[in-house]
Amino acid sequence: MLAQPSHILFVCLGNICRSPLAEGIFRSVAATVGADNRFAIDSAGTGAWHAGSPPDPRSIQVAARHGIDISAQRARAVSAADFENFDLLLGMDRSNVETLIGRSPARAEHKVHLFLEYAGIGHRDVPDPYYGGADGFETVYRMLHEASEALASKLGARDVSAPISGQASSIT
Ligand code: 4NP
Repeated sequence: MLAQPSHILFVCLGNICRSPLAEGIFRSVAATVGADNRFAIDSAGTGAWHAGSPPDPRSIQVAARHGIDISAQRARAVSAADFENFDLLLGMDRSNVETLIGRSPARAEHKVHLFLEYAGIGHRDVPDPYYGGADGFETVYRMLHEASEALASKLGARDVSAPISGQASSIT
């Protein structure tokens, strides 16, 4: 059997709003199920305007409200090496996916997917919250959290703290 993808790059346009959140949330979900050391996770933007900048304060804030610290992340642009170094490049919206496919060597095109679709929760975009209000960031957080849990499950990261069969569960 082929090994499950383990090197995952989350990609949006600026790498300051959506993909830093996706990176932080997926890392947190993986840690919750004791699988964080199974993954190498990063994020990048198809554009380089914000390279070197921390995430948007609204992304930092919504993550912090949910107990996740993404403030140490710094934006960077997608590089040619990313198509070699990662097993999966997951775009937040269809435009990100199109841009990635356009830059990908043919041999790496199979690594590029729409995040929510690859996670199995529908052919849907994560909307760009940059020009909207704080509620847009909460909506994005929820979508990314649902998608991260679905992705972790798809990649076989299961909850090691879950009761094994035959044992009583405290969850009713
Ligand atoms: P992101 O959001 O792609 O989720 O990081 C954006 C951030 C910045 C810009 C656009 C989208 N911008 O045009 O600067």
